[in-house]
Amino acid sequence: MEITKSKYRSICDDKGKLTFLESGGGKDIPFAIQRVYYIYEVLPGERRGFHAHKKLEQYLICIAGSCTILLDDGSEMKHVTLNDPSEGLYIGPGTWREMYNFSPEAVLLVLASEHYDENDYIRDYDRFLAYLKEDNK
Ligand code: TYD
Repeated sequence: MEITKSKYRSICDDKGKLTFLESGGGKDIPFAIQRVYYIYEVLPGERRGFHAHKKLEQYLICIAGSCTILLDDGSEMKHVTLNDPSEGLYIGPGTWREMYNFSPEAVLLVLASEHYDENDYIRDYDRFLAYLKEDNK
C-alpha cells in the first residue's frame, strides 16, 4: 500500500507560520472539497474511525498536536503519524482507518470530497474484507 502525503506551501517569517492549500485541477487537493470537519479534545487512549468508505476521498491534516492513523487495504496495514500542520495524508476509497495516539491538544482536520452520507460507510471489518473481494469499487 502506498502512503500519499502532501506537503503544502507555507510562509514562514518573523511573525510565525501560515500554510495554505487550494483545491481543483492541478492544485494541492485534486477533488472539489465538499465538506470539512475536525476532530479534537479526544479523550486519552481513545481510538476513532473503525470504518472504510466506498467512494469518499479525504485529506487528513493534523493542524495541532499529533495523532497516528492506521491504514489497512485488506492485505497490508500501515501506521502513519501526523504531527506537521503543513502535511496532508490522502485516504482513498476502500481503506479501513483507525485514528489513535491523539495528543491532548491535537486537532485533526479532514477535507472530504463528498457531503456526509452514512451509506458510503463500511463500519464492519468483515464486511469491509468482503466488499474488497466483491470487486465493486
Ligand atoms: P464518524 O465518521 O463515525 O467518526 P469517527 O470515525 O471519527 O468516530 O462520525 C461520528 C458521528 O458524527 C456519526 O454519528 C456521524 C456524525 N457525522 C456527521 O453527521 N457528519 C460528518 O461529516 C461526520 C464526519 C460525522
